[in-house]
Amino acid sequence: MTKGLQIVGLGLATLDILVRLRQMPTWEQAGPIRAFRFDGGGLVGTAMVAAAKLGARVGYVGTAGNDEAAELKLRSFVEAGVDLSRLARRPAPEDQVIMVYVHAETGERVFAGLENLRGAPLRPDELDRDYIAAAPYLHLDGFHPEAAMQAARWAREAGNTVVFDASLATGPIRDYRRALVPLTDILISGRDFGYHLTGKRDIYQAGEEILALGPRVFVETVGDQGCYTVTPTERFHTPAFAVPVVDTTGAGDVFHGAYIVGLLQGWDARRVAQFASAVSALKCTVLGGRAGIPTFAQTLAFLRERGIEMG
Ligand SMILES: Nc1ncnc2c1ncn2[C@@H]1O[C@H](COP(=O)(O)OP(=O)(O)O)[C@@H](O)[C@H]1O
Ligand SMILES: [Mg+2]
Repeated sequence: MTKGLQIVGLGLATLDILVRLRQMPTWEQAGPIRAFRFDGGGLVGTAMVAAAKLGARVGYVGTAGNDEAAELKLRSFVEAGVDLSRLARRPAPEDQVIMVYVHAETGERVFAGLENLRGAPLRPDELDRDYIAAAPYLHLDGFHPEAAMQAARWAREAGNTVVFDASLATGPIRDYRRALVPLTDILISGRDFGYHLTGKRDIYQAGEEILALGPRVFVETVGDQGCYTVTPTERFHTPAFAVPVVDTTGAGDVFHGAYIVGLLQGWDARRVAQFASAVSALKCTVLGGRAGIPTFAQTLAFLRERGIEMG
């Protein structure tokens, strides 16, 4: 089953406990919730489930505990057929658990994660070099930082493509994220990463500086404003698709998984961005980071209804 993997993802995989509500409770005021769901989450975790659901052969490398929360978080990996043979099980309760409060009107969310989320990272000596080097794509999110650096070096030495989810940024970029940039081929970030890494407000200018650091593609996703792509030969905006939004949790994560699937199809950068945007938009119509991930055929049908043929 591990033979012929197309993508290996190494990073965060959480159990998300999602609640959809209009108003946050306070210590003074209780309040109702509209809906709740347990779903798997995490940047690389959700990206890998998306890629597998879209038809890619995928492996996930990371950690999981030995309790019911761990089983819950792994369920959608198993359902999507993600290979978990190199998962490191810890003899401890699951430590990657996040409460996700989703605004019932906007679908935007705020997280509250377990405070020891980064307490027991994967170590480089726990990695299987052959497993990582055998897949043409390695996807990282900076979680398990030392292992991620090691894996990126091995992937590069093997001539594979390193994709890095650099996440959104609200302040200075931490060293462990910064260090991954020169080892990255395709850097896809959330809002303001480019600004905080380079000091350039203009996404295209920031993108040019990022390409000078090593990556050959830079994409910044900006929620319902779509995404911006910079390559050595072109720069362009891809609008988001208008959909009835329930929950934006995981939109960026799913975008990454779909983006790699688009690359595996051999599509050009514009097509890949459109495909990833469509997959993310469809995801946003359902509560949970993974529950709404469409199949490849559903995504092509969604695009075709909007006059976009992937060819
Ligand atoms: N409200 C939305 N409606 C439609 N598409 C969305 C919406 N929010 C996000 N997306 C799609 O998902 C992509 C990633 O979302 P973004 O919000 O930038 O990531 P994150 O999950 O890091 O917040 C966007 O570029 C867009 O294509
Ligand atoms: Mg968002």
